[in-house]
Amino acid sequence: MTSRERFLAALNCQPLDRPPIWVMRQAGRYLPEYRALKEKHSFLELAQTPELALEVTLQPLRRFDLDAAILFSDILVIPEALGQGYHFRTQGGIGMDYRLDSKDQIDALDPTAIEEKLSYVSDALKLIDGELAGSKALLGFGGSPWTLATYMVEGGSSKNFERVKGLFYSDRLAFNALMEKLVAALIDYFRMQKSAGVDAIQIFDSWGGILAGEDYQEASLQWIQQIIDAVRDEVSIIIYAKGTSPHFARQAATRPKAISVDWTIPIEEAAQQIPADVAIQGNLDPVLLDTTPDIVRQGATRILDAMSNRPGHIFNLGHGIHPTARIENMETLVETVTTYSQ
Ligand code: CP3
Repeated sequence: MTSRERFLAALNCQPLDRPPIWVMRQAGRYLPEYRALKEKHSFLELAQTPELALEVTLQPLRRFDLDAAILFSDILVIPEALGQGYHFRTQGGIGMDYRLDSKDQIDALDPTAIEEKLSYVSDALKLIDGELAGSKALLGFGGSPWTLATYMVEGGSSKNFERVKGLFYSDRLAFNALMEKLVAALIDYFRMQKSAGVDAIQIFDSWGGILAGEDYQEASLQWIQQIIDAVRDEVSIIIYAKGTSPHFARQAATRPKAISVDWTIPIEEAAQQIPADVAIQGNLDPVLLDTTPDIVRQGATRILDAMSNRPGHIFNLGHGIHPTARIENMETLVETVTTYSQ
């Protein structure tokens, strides 16, 4: 069975001897070969040059026997395509080129011609798809409308999210106008990714968990629902959200193919709340990869044992891999999962 077949079987909740494994930001600062490329090229150059995006996407697969490749890009390409550029702050975190703080600025965003503006993503995906030749699953992705709006309205990374929440509470018309534009752009973007060869698309609702529980549906999930409704028959969607364990049933009601679970809940408890025909991805605490191979092996084995009777498990971290992750720990993680047998 190829890695891609294993991944697709898990996504379709078929029983397997062991789950497939991939991790988020597998291309990232923990890999010396990535840091070497970053000496020569900016992040944007890497993401916008298809041959370089191909190289960065494949780097982790040369080292580790992962079952899926995730496109090297960023969720912030969508705000940029709408007219709001981004950069990485030297002290860490994201800065947008300006902050959205009026309805006029929202009205000025242009969600059309996504395929042309982001043709470099489609070109990169086609190169990756050609290189993988069906051996590994290929994953595309995008941010959720809410998570993108946090960067756009806050003007970058934020601590308390008062501006974007303020917009949601006090100017629902402007908030909805922004979300509608993001939904339209993301639907076009996901269709483009599908035509370029992806097997599934992960929607990152990384900041869904900072919302008040009673607002999650209206501020975030309903917009994800609109996207899933539009593309469900065309491409498999995985919902990833951080800090949204109280909302598994609501997330499952949007009918994604899979729900990705953060590390704060024992995965078997998440499994009790997620219907048997929705796959579950997760959920090792990324910090374990900073510790020792023994601790990683124990943590991973606990999750594998807990999920061994639940068809439809995709092994993953509960969030992206940290720059401080140790390569020997990543090797142990992949070995533990790929040699596991029930
Ligand atoms: O997994 C992969 O390698 C695929 C590519 C990918 C990146 N970002 C590349 C990247 C994916 C799937 C993302 C998703 C992403 N980007 C999210 C959603 C997931 C999450 O983290 O919750 C978000 C919120 C972003 C926005 C973003 N991009 C942040 C907050 C940062 C960190 C900034 C910092 O200084 O800490 C990035 C940078 C980024 N995106 C890196 C990579 C490999 C690190 C770049 C570097 O420093 O070289």
